[in-house]
Amino acid sequence: MSVANFKGVSLPLAVIVTFAGVVSLIFFDYWSSCSNSCPAQPHKGKQYIESNYGMNSSLADAEKDKPILLLWVWPENYRFDFSDCKTFYNIDGCHLTHDRSLYSDSDAVLIFHKAIRWDLSNLPPSPRPPFQKWIWFHVESPTNTRRIPGLENLFNLTLSYRQDADVPVRMRLTITKKPNEDFVIPKRTNWCVGLNRFYRELSKYIQVTLFGRAYASFLYYKVYYPTIASCKFYLAFENSIHKDYITEKINGPLVAGSVPVVLGPPRRNYENFVPAGSFIHVNDFPDAKSLAEYLLQLDKDEDAYRKYFNWRKHLTAAPHLIQQTQEFILAICTACEHVGRHREYKEAHDIYN
Ligand SMILES: *[C@@H]1O[C@H](CO)[C@@H](O)[C@H](O)[C@H]1NC(C)=O
Ligand SMILES: *[C@@H]1O[C@H](CO)[C@@H](O)[C@H](O)[C@H]1NC(C)=O
Repeated sequence: MSVANFKGVSLPLAVIVTFAGVVSLIFFDYWSSCSNSCPAQPHKGKQYIESNYGMNSSLADAEKDKPILLLWVWPENYRFDFSDCKTFYNIDGCHLTHDRSLYSDSDAVLIFHKAIRWDLSNLPPSPRPPFQKWIWFHVESPTNTRRIPGLENLFNLTLSYRQDADVPVRMRLTITKKPNEDFVIPKRTNWCVGLNRFYRELSKYIQVTLFGRAYASFLYYKVYYPTIASCKFYLAFENSIHKDYITEKINGPLVAGSVPVVLGPPRRNYENFVPAGSFIHVNDFPDAKSLAEYLLQLDKDEDAYRKYFNWRKHLTAAPHLIQQTQEFILAICTACEHVGRHREYKEAHDIYN
């Protein structure tokens, strides 16, 4: 079902939609960590490690063993403290650095696709150390990808949201053996929408309260999760539809305890990452009207609604970082973890595929 099919929706005017602008608008800080004000403190490479741990040889050996991962440019110039990888994700399998003087000693170089110049003039220099891997770093969908020519024979690994990337990046649910405590479903009436073009369609029919940077009311990062928690349903619509392109828009409601209504790749694809009973898929309905009717019916049927929370017994969703400047931390840390664990030879030619 395409977005255009929703034009015919006539949801009751009485339904109030609290609008939580999510799509590429607000990625505010959830864990109050430092962000752009925070200077990078890259590791200084092997010499630094040796001199600092010289007195403790077992530790020094462990540190020396860690591969060096050089972040060639800061994506979108969003800087962060590399120790965040340990803080947020317990990842410290590599030495992350932004210091280009360590280039010839770096085991891997992480290169942000969007920053590559069309003439490739800002790629790392030749000669390239024979042991060094270049990682193609791109987390946008094909719709938002500039296909720069000449990258076919440069990279060894791909990093993307795709599962078939060498380094797939996404938030994942974790399984707990011991059942989680019963989740208490809050009392609430709001329906919420992630911001995208669908909003304009929807706002013709229903009253919408806006939260978002571009709007009068502002969804401050400290209220991101509480706001989503106030939503009975949360419309988590992707801005373009591609295999595996399932962003943190679905993670917000799963963390906060709302029921996501998703628009994106087919249901089967979602079920690779989240349980079938945890979300409502737009494609499950022949048209927008039937979806609206189903939601209104669920709104009244407490038992049926509660079933959407059964998955929480043994699964937990972890909050994602929501400040805009933190957008790439997970990807960079995931690359670090990968580099720390894999030393195999690899070439990646067909990166756009
Ligand atoms: C060396 O470091 C390890 C790990 O932190 C620690 O357990 C050990 O006590 C240290 N040894 C010395 C001699 O400082
Ligand atoms: C990395 O890939 C390039 C080009 O695809 C290749 O020439 C090089 O040998 C590879 N290096 C490693 C260490 O995998």
